[in-house]
Parts: sequence; structure tokens; C-alpha cells
Amino acid sequence: MIHLLNENPFQSERECMLVGLMDQPEKFGGELQPLDHAFNGELTELVKAGDLSAKYKSVSMLHSLGHSPVKRFVFIGLGKEKELTLNRLRMAIGRASKELKKLKVSSFSIALDTFISGQFSVEQAARTISEAYTMAAYEFEGYKQKSNEPDVVVERITLFTKERNENIKSAAETGQIFGAAVNHARSLVNTPSNLMRPSDLASYAANLAKELDLEIEILEKEEIEKLGMGAFLAVNQGSSESPYMITLKYQGKNEWTDVLGLVGKGITFDTGGYSIKPKNGIVGMKTDMGGAASVLGAMEIIGRLKPKCNVVAVIPATDNVISERAFKPDDVITSLNGKTIEVLNTDAEGRLVLADAVTYAKMHGADRLIDVATLTGGVVVALGLDKTGAITNHEEFYQEIKEASGKTGEYIWLLPYTEDDKKRVRSSNMADLNNSPGREGHAIMGGAFIGEFAEETPWVHLDIAGTATTEKQNDLGPAGATGVMVRTLAVLALTENLS
Ligand code: BES
Ligand code: ZN
Ligand code: ZN
Repeated sequence: MIHLLNENPFQSERECMLVGLMDQPEKFGGELQPLDHAFNGELTELVKAGDLSAKYKSVSMLHSLGHSPVKRFVFIGLGKEKELTLNRLRMAIGRASKELKKLKVSSFSIALDTFISGQFSVEQAARTISEAYTMAAYEFEGYKQKSNEPDVVVERITLFTKERNENIKSAAETGQIFGAAVNHARSLVNTPSNLMRPSDLASYAANLAKELDLEIEILEKEEIEKLGMGAFLAVNQGSSESPYMITLKYQGKNEWTDVLGLVGKGITFDTGGYSIKPKNGIVGMKTDMGGAASVLGAMEIIGRLKPKCNVVAVIPATDNVISERAFKPDDVITSLNGKTIEVLNTDAEGRLVLADAVTYAKMHGADRLIDVATLTGGVVVALGLDKTGAITNHEEFYQEIKEASGKTGEYIWLLPYTEDDKKRVRSSNMADLNNSPGREGHAIMGGAFIGEFAEETPWVHLDIAGTATTEKQNDLGPAGATGVMVRTLAVLALTENLS
């Protein structure tokens, strides 16, 4: 629960207060002057002595020992005021939230006005702070008999500000909605594939739709066969479980036109099929539905904030496993839009399921498309672990996404996509396309293949193979799933509705 109080933060009886420190305050001025007075100028001394620091991302705890009705202060270094952007604020808050967790408090307060720089508004700060806190506090419960959950959960956050502005509280709540959706996406990805079957992904989507009043359609194997989704079915062929084509619709405009299509790869486990993965490469393949999770997270935010836009989300969900029925290299299959595909590698399955999902999104009226997928190891080789790789057939549409990602701090880098790349995915003696033209530039090839199905529709492909998970914890969360692109997709959809 978030509360807003128009009081002086330092005169209120509080357990724990977060305070932002900017520049290198030789002397406490502005918002912090009353606080320094309460401490008889000793805070200034502490800064001089280096016990309190305004250095970016430093966290200093201080017990007030009766100098203030606030029992404990957590000072967060914000660096130079001129350099403090929302992205930098988000990371500093994330870092501090981890320290805060160690205090095991069930409520804390924030002296909001100490976090404001000239670069953003109080509302933006409130949204960013609560988003960062919510994300950084995330932990996956896991399955240990002794749970990972912190024993004390924060139930109440109070924002103190002198601003009398009703929007501040709702901005903070929006931040919380963003953070929670990221965390839900993370949990979907962290859940192992024996507990996250394609049918579980479908039930999750169904529950989300029910809660948020979204339209939903879930196709099972028989209907998928009837529609002729041959590429999707080929990947599912070895499995004893039905595939699910999950479609969620959010309609925020009177007419179902101007529809953004979000397509997420939902491979609940990728063995590679007969082009089997090596024992090291197969570990972690429960995360191959990361794209689906990102799309579901974005739909959660959109469904809660109800902007004036139309969005259709399409998720092809299946595992990619081996049995005597499984599809094989050399097979030729026919996709939903009629194009035939020579399968050279059963481990290049993402582009196959996405081919039919992209076609299906268009059938549902999408006139702009974004696909999100843990598609290639190649993108990690090309861009490392912190950048999502993009391919597009429409520079302006890409720029909109790039702008959204600038606001969320999720890096995206555009890869080149040329006529020669298109030729390579079209080179097959047997069929219209081949699903694996070789090692060279294979992150581009993955995107180029999907582009054959986007056709003339403005489209951006986001390869999150490197960014969907992290081996090390970072400021905004623990090791494991990151929930990447949830916020960027939502910001894009909400562009006209967010300050
Ligand atoms: N799911 C993998 C990609 C992946 C790799 C995701 C590492 C996360 C971490 C994808 O289906 C795959 O196997 N891609 C192949 C494509 C190749 C066969 C053309 C790859 O990248 O090696
Ligand atoms: Zn694969
Ligand atoms: Zn895969």
C-alpha cells in the first residue's frame, strides 16, 4: 500500500526514512536543512568525515539516536544533480532497496522531495522510485523446504512531499504496477518446465484475462491443425502435450483498428529436438518462453492502466522435445501463410513457431508487429548479455521502440538487415525458405526468417536470448529471469498516457 503525506518528513514519527543526497553537500541546504538542524549540524560533519556520502549509488544507514522522530535514515547517494536522470535514479533506488531489505522493516517512508532533479517531475520520480523498489525487492520463492521468501514483507510505503498534487500517489501506484508485472514475468521464466507446461502458460493467460477483463482465445491442437499452422505443429510434433496458441486482446479504442501486435516465443523447454543441444547448452532452456513472459507482463500493465490503444498479444506455447514422432532435419513443412520451409535444424524452432504466430497476429488485425524471443545464441555473441538485438523492416517504428527503451533503461541495439540477408533465408532447393542458413550472422538470420512472415506490416524483432536472464544479480533484481522488455513494451503501448 502506498500512502502520500503532505508533511515535513523529518518531523513525523517513523521507523525508517529514505533520503536522497545529491552533489557533495558541504553544507546541507534546501530540503535537507531542517534535518541537519535537528542533528545540530552534525550531518555536515558526517559528510565531511565521509560517513555519509552523496556518491552515486552509495547507501549510508544512520540511527537518529533521538535527534529526530525518525528512528532510522537510509541515505542514498544520487551523485550530481545535473546528471541525475530517471534511469540513474531507478538504479540508485534499486541498490538501496537491497540494503533496506536487510533491515527487515514492514514499512518505510520516503522523503520524496530530496530525490527531485531538474530533469524530471515529482510524479515521474514517484513512479520510478516505486517501480525500482518493487523490482529490486523481488525474490523467486523456489522450492526449498526452507523458503527463500524474506520473513518480513513491506506492507506500507509512505511518500512525504510538500507538493499538493493528487497525481503523485497514482504515479507511485503505476510504478508499482510496472514493477509487479516485471516480477510476474520473472516468476513465469524462473519456474522449471516440469511445472510450467504449455497448458500452465495458457491457464496463466486465462487467469490474467479474467482478472483484467481482456478478451482471450486459446487454441488447442485440433483447432491449430484445422487452421493449418504447420510450422508451429512441426515443433510440437515430438511432444505428448498439446500446443496452445494463446491470443489476448485489449481494446482501448472504439474501433478495432490501429492494432499493435505483440508476439512472444513460448517454448517451455528447448531440447533442440533431433539437432539436440549439448549438455551445457541445454541447461537453462526452461527460460525459452521468456518472450511469452515479456508479452504477458506488458499485457498485465496495459490491462491495469487501460490506455486508449488496441493491442493483440499472440503466444505460441509448446515444448521442443524428441520422440519417435518428432520432426527431423530435412523435413519440409507448410506454414499458416502458405510458405513452405525446409527444416535444416530442429533447434531453430523459435522462428518456426513465431512464423505462424506472426501470421496469426495479422489475421487478428495487427497492423504493427513486435516479436519478442529468446531466439539465438548468436545475439549474445554479437551484443553481449546486456543488449537486446533488434531487426526491423520499418525504421520509424523501430525508433518508437528505441525511445520507449530509453525511458526504461533497457538497451536495444539494431542489427543490419539487408536484401542479401533475405536471400539467405530464401535459399533452399526444396522449399520457399530454410530455417537455418548457417552460423554467419545467425542472430540476423533468425530475425530475417520471421520478417518473411511480417511481410509488409511494420515489424520489429527483439532477440532477448542474452537479456532475458542474468547470471549475476544487478541493481534491479536477483540472478535469474530479468523480465526484460515488459516495461519497454508497456511504455510503448502507453506512450500517450504516461507523463
Ligand atoms: N532457444 C535457443 C536460443 C537461446 C540460446 C536462448 C541461449 C537462450 C540462451 C534457440 O532456439 C536456438 O537454439 N537457437 C540456435 C539457432 C541455430 C540453430 C540457428 C542457436 O542460437 O544456436
Ligand atoms: Zn532451439
Ligand atoms: Zn529456442
